[in-house]
Amino acid sequence: MPFDHNDFYHPLLLRLVPAGARRALDVGCGTGRLARRLAARGLEVDALDPAAEVLEVAKALGSPGPGAITYRHADITTYPLSSSRYDVVTCVASLHHVPFQTVTRLRDALAPGGVLAVLGLADPSTVRDHAVWLGSVPTNLLAKAVVAAAERLGGGADPVPRAPIRDWDMTLNDVRREAARLLPGSRVRVLPFWRYLLTYRRA
Ligand SMILES: C[S@@+](CC[C@H](N)C(=O)[O-])C[C@H]1O[C@@H](n2cnc3c(N)ncnc32)[C@H](O)[C@@H]1O
Repeated sequence: MPFDHNDFYHPLLLRLVPAGARRALDVGCGTGRLARRLAARGLEVDALDPAAEVLEVAKALGSPGPGAITYRHADITTYPLSSSRYDVVTCVASLHHVPFQTVTRLRDALAPGGVLAVLGLADPSTVRDHAVWLGSVPTNLLAKAVVAAAERLGGGADPVPRAPIRDWDMTLNDVRREAARLLPGSRVRVLPFWRYLLTYRRA
């Protein structure tokens, strides 16, 4: 696998899982890499994606345990989510595939004290956003070179289907404004590697 800007943030996302959490929802799970890490932490995971080809790969890989993973071939905008069910809801590079207001469905699916963590993509707005973006260029080149060298040494991995991607149409200021409106108390942080982190904890 080449260096993956989304997987790089899995440890950060795992640190956001509330203590004692039991149930997780991963939205747009792709081949299930984050779902497996959540299950390895002992969570029962519902992992949802409308792309059948990547979901098949995820299902074939199953769960490393101790938590179970239930994969659902579904669209988050229409899937009937139970309210107040999940201790953590994650969206990795998937929120821009759906209308931003979908976050209200995810918010309602959080149990009290539950955390929504969105690793998202949007265009930079402020000078700081641009500076973080620009600073990502040399780090990215270095990370890619290190991972490519490690792959050559290790003989490389079998190719897997890539999860569907699409362009985003929001700026970071759009995200900040909509997050403040729909998820009062949420926080939006700009991150290296052209990502942002939106976090929201349900009271
Ligand atoms: C860029 S991929 C990211 C996949 C995975 N989270 C990862 O980090 O590898 C975006 C994913 O969002 C999924 N997606 C697109 N529309 C969706 C929807 N309406 N509901 C849920 N997931 C969706 C895509 O099928 C794709 O797997």
